[in-house]
Amino acid sequence: MKKRHLLAPGPTPVLPDALLAMARPILYHRGPEYEALLASVREGLKFLFQTKNEVLLFTSSGTGGMEGTVVNTLSPGDRAVVIRSGKFGERWGEICEAYGLQPCYIDVEWGRAVEPDLVAAALAADPSIKAVFATHTESSTGVIHDIEAIARIVGRTPAILVVDAIMSLGVANLPMDAWGVDVVVGGSQKGLMIPPGLAFCAVSDKGWAMVQQSRLPKFYFNFLAERKSLEKNQNTFTPAVSLVMALHESLAAIRAEGLTALFARHDRLARATRA
Ligand SMILES: Cc1ncc(COP(=O)(O)O)c(C=O)c1O
Repeated sequence: MKKRHLLAPGPTPVLPDALLAMARPILYHRGPEYEALLASVREGLKFLFQTKNEVLLFTSSGTGGMEGTVVNTLSPGDRAVVIRSGKFGERWGEICEAYGLQPCYIDVEWGRAVEPDLVAAALAADPSIKAVFATHTESSTGVIHDIEAIARIVGRTPAILVVDAIMSLGVANLPMDAWGVDVVVGGSQKGLMIPPGLAFCAVSDKGWAMVQQSRLPKFYFNFLAERKSLEKNQNTFTPAVSLVMALHESLAAIRAEGLTALFARHDRLARATRA
């Protein structure tokens, strides 16, 4: 077969070991072999997200993880801040509006990163703000936002910081526990080097407290139900088993390389591309 090179921000070329894993016979998702695989994947995801908390896994594209986060953290009438600096920042707003919320927008010129002081000002102007929705790397412009500085600001308030890291997961450093980020959403088809079809949501203790109180309607993307299933090495609904088998290979490769080397390699490639 002709070798193809995908040079898009995602889907990215798939790791050969992940391709081979997907060619293996399917596992029964309620059987012991799958449970052992999922146990290992859970540990690998915690390593990648740099968190002690559970990382939820859904069979959906990344946007499913974004929608799941909105409906599992907020309630009708809640106030939220959405940072819009590109296509994917806009998506946070579209999801909030689809559920009847009226977010307060921080509009940033496309191609620029948000000034963290603007987030502080928005939170000071409305102390009832429950959540700030941000993007780590905005794929539509190539801009990386200073999530560490934004997390410091949001961390001083009762609001949670939700970050779309669908592009940056496994590419740029985002130590969620150390920085105090409350929800990180990822996807399978970019830095993880496996095909599209899985979304990830990692939630902090502060985030889980919001999840307990959230009253927006939800069914498939139910964070509490999914965490309960994962604790038994199960998924609530039939997962994309072959993708989870591929994920297992990709997480093993990432762990073998180490996060510092991984992020340095991506930085080197990014600088080479720009040069
Ligand atoms: C930063 C960012 N957010 C969200 C998405 C949407 O993810 P998906 O297409 O997997 O739903 C993408 C995908 O390109 C992205 O790059």
